[in-house]
Amino acid sequence: SDSGFDRRQGVLHAEGVPLPTIAAAVGTPAYVYCAGTIRARYERLAHAFEGVPHRIHFAMKANSNLAVLRLLQELGAGVDIVSGGELYRAREAGFTGRDVVFSGVGKTVQEIEQALDDRVLLINVESEAELVTIDAVAARKGVVAPIAIRVNPEVTVETPHAYIRTGEKGQKFGIPRDDITRLVSLIRELPHIALRGLGMHLGSQIGNADPLRDALPRLLVAVEAARAEGHDVRYLDVGGGLSVPYEPDERDADVEDYAQIVRAAATETGLTLLLEPGRYIVAEAGTLLTQVLYRKHAAGKDFIVTDAGMSDLIRPALYQAYHAIEAVVDTTRTITADVVGPICESGDFFAKNRELPDVSAGELLAIRTTGAYGYTMTSNYNSRPRAVEVLADGSRFAIITERERYEDLVRLERAHLQWRTT
Ligand code: LLP
Repeated sequence: SDSGFDRRQGVLHAEGVPLPTIAAAVGTPAYVYCAGTIRARYERLAHAFEGVPHRIHFAMKANSNLAVLRLLQELGAGVDIVSGGELYRAREAGFTGRDVVFSGVGKTVQEIEQALDDRVLLINVESEAELVTIDAVAARKGVVAPIAIRVNPEVTVETPHAYIRTGEKGQKFGIPRDDITRLVSLIRELPHIALRGLGMHLGSQIGNADPLRDALPRLLVAVEAARAEGHDVRYLDVGGGLSVPYEPDERDADVEDYAQIVRAAATETGLTLLLEPGRYIVAEAGTLLTQVLYRKHAAGKDFIVTDAGMSDLIRPALYQAYHAIEAVVDTTRTITADVVGPICESGDFFAKNRELPDVSAGELLAIRTTGAYGYTMTSNYNSRPRAVEVLADGSRFAIITERERYEDLVRLERAHLQWRTT
């Protein structure tokens, strides 16, 4: 495989590091990432776009760890952010404002101020009301805000779960394509707005190129409309959404095919391409390492109870997402079982009725393809401290996020109240 996770003498390794070594050193549950895989993924995508002006803005909602961001920053990536918190992280990791595009339907005035102060490359605008707010904030600061309009191309998108579909009619995302003409004309009356780009994001984990083929011409219509109003458009932002295989028989996204379609659109317009991949760069590079706490047999079923729960990885509970699960140390026997966490919810599972290695208490499991939307979607539910994050690079490994401690859980809380009177 090219995920960076491979078996050597029957033991799963992260690059050159045996996973049991990591578990012994930092405990479980632990997120483990392969640096080489992240680099390789970035380079493969960059290579597919060689020769066309473009920039890869990593969608950091997928994995916002500072060390991961730093690694991508060193390769020349930019970031796609969706909050002031992500902007803060990006700056901490070494990105400058010029490396940042700011997406999202609900930016606050404070976040817009922060973005303008940091001179971000583009604010991707999703409504007329937001546009007017940005103009007012920029006016107060005496600056001109560079923006892109996020177009909702209203195409049919197929994703494994409806929650990760965005480019369809009736979604909260983007500006309906029928409203673009009016909006680009309105912008001419907003002196503190510079329309520099048009963009879209169709959804996540999109398995084929059809939605892209349908949507790009609609995006190009929007570019024409903007140019017809005299706007100096420079960027075409095609969003993220490249899929990765989660199930054993799934195929890798055809990056060359994707690139060919997108490149054609960019060349036709002469615009600089912006890409916002998240999952594609990091998903396969990550594994959630967990220890089996108990085996349980109840009502004719077998359960494997792990020390990781839905607070550590919510994708199965939230999207019925499939994640491959392997024994870290080879076992020959298999059983059909549910893999469940310790949390008091029936939704707290990682696999149901699946053929799995027949592991005993104390043994390690690897929950695969969890480098994207794994740690970033964790919570403290059931007052469970967040897991540790580890980066493997060749034969070395390092802690990149410490395991949370109990003190961290209550750090912002007050038991002794200072009442305010009204
Ligand atoms: N750009 C925008 C504006 C987005 O909203 C997203 C993802 C991306 C880029 C990156 O998409 P990607 O390349 O990673 O597919 N939590 C869900 C995924 C939600 C994605 C939200 N937006 C999951 O675990 O599957």
